[in-house]
Amino acid sequence: MPGPMTRAAKILAIESSCDETACAVVEGLQVRASIIASQVEIHAAFGGVVPELASRHHLTAAVPVLRAAVEAAGVTFAELDGLAVTEGPGLVGALLVGVQLAQGLALATGLPLHGIHHMEGHLLSPFLGDAEITAREFVPHLALSVSGGHSELVLVAGLGDYRVLGCTRDDAAGEAFDKVAKLLGLGYPGGPVIDRLAAEGDSTAFRFPRAMLADRERFEFSFSGLKTALSVHLDKHGQPSSRAALADLCASFQAAVVEVLVAKARLARRKFACKAMTIVGGVSANRGLREAMAAAAAADGFELWTPALRYCGDNAAMIGAAAALRVQAGRTPAVQVFASRAIDEPRGVTA
Ligand code: KG4
Ligand code: ZN
Repeated sequence: MPGPMTRAAKILAIESSCDETACAVVEGLQVRASIIASQVEIHAAFGGVVPELASRHHLTAAVPVLRAAVEAAGVTFAELDGLAVTEGPGLVGALLVGVQLAQGLALATGLPLHGIHHMEGHLLSPFLGDAEITAREFVPHLALSVSGGHSELVLVAGLGDYRVLGCTRDDAAGEAFDKVAKLLGLGYPGGPVIDRLAAEGDSTAFRFPRAMLADRERFEFSFSGLKTALSVHLDKHGQPSSRAALADLCASFQAAVVEVLVAKARLARRKFACKAMTIVGGVSANRGLREAMAAAAAADGFELWTPALRYCGDNAAMIGAAAALRVQAGRTPAVQVFASRAIDEPRGVTA
């Protein structure tokens, strides 16, 4: 078994779990190249990701994206320490394309292949490319992971040492943004559009429900009632008649999502005495969420780490970083199992 490395590991990584075909070359947490081919325009016409179309487009994009990343990084396979690929969760047909490509490369080059859990990649995304933060990457912290498929609070105690404190009972936060955007005829994906409109609106114009706030001991979310509340509002009042009215609606909806996310994260951080917090996943790009969490960090006295905007959504650099840190720690490639429920006490975090 290899021992820990004293230098940063060079990894070529592939990500194809949903609608982004991505490839990256990293050296530890430093990103040498990150190429992302988004299929968002293809799926927009259907109002959401069509799995079969996603697989087909990964097939055509995978090799050109891989070539572009290798070229941009200026590396040869001989210089690499390993390969990484997202092994799940995600759309099965989409994942298969990345996994097959990675396995082919591993066979051809003899490089070790690391299967990485998509959500572990997101957890590491705030630390990408920041030389200063490298040294404290595994200060035990709390992560608010919010994307199109997930909304959860995770205690990060160390590399591979994650404890899910709670997740959504129904819709993920990003899913709520996308569904509400659909109700308002704003297209797919809805998050960025609502975010932009919300900045122009009055967040107190309408009062939408904040679910599960009263239960201060459980760190679960629920967003489907909020979506229904907005739908009922539209049935009653009709579609907003002006851009200003639409902006007010978006701002009021976003405020409800953000308030719940921030409130639950604050409670969890206090309970588990974490000195730092991250927000990761596609929804971590949301300006309202970033501002509200920054205000909470200032008020409660914790450090807040957020990914650069280009690493909020799906990318391969975060997958490469997870593999690089494993290689540096002397770990051999293994299927990593990410607990979807709280299963054991984390090491290094006092409850
Ligand atoms: O992490 P991600 O790229 O893919 C998944 O793994 O799901 O997240 C995509 C989700 C979509 O639901 C999208 O609407 C949401 O992230 N999103 C946003 C923003 N940018 C993307 N939601 C709110 N505000 C944004 N600025
Ligand atoms: Zn994701």
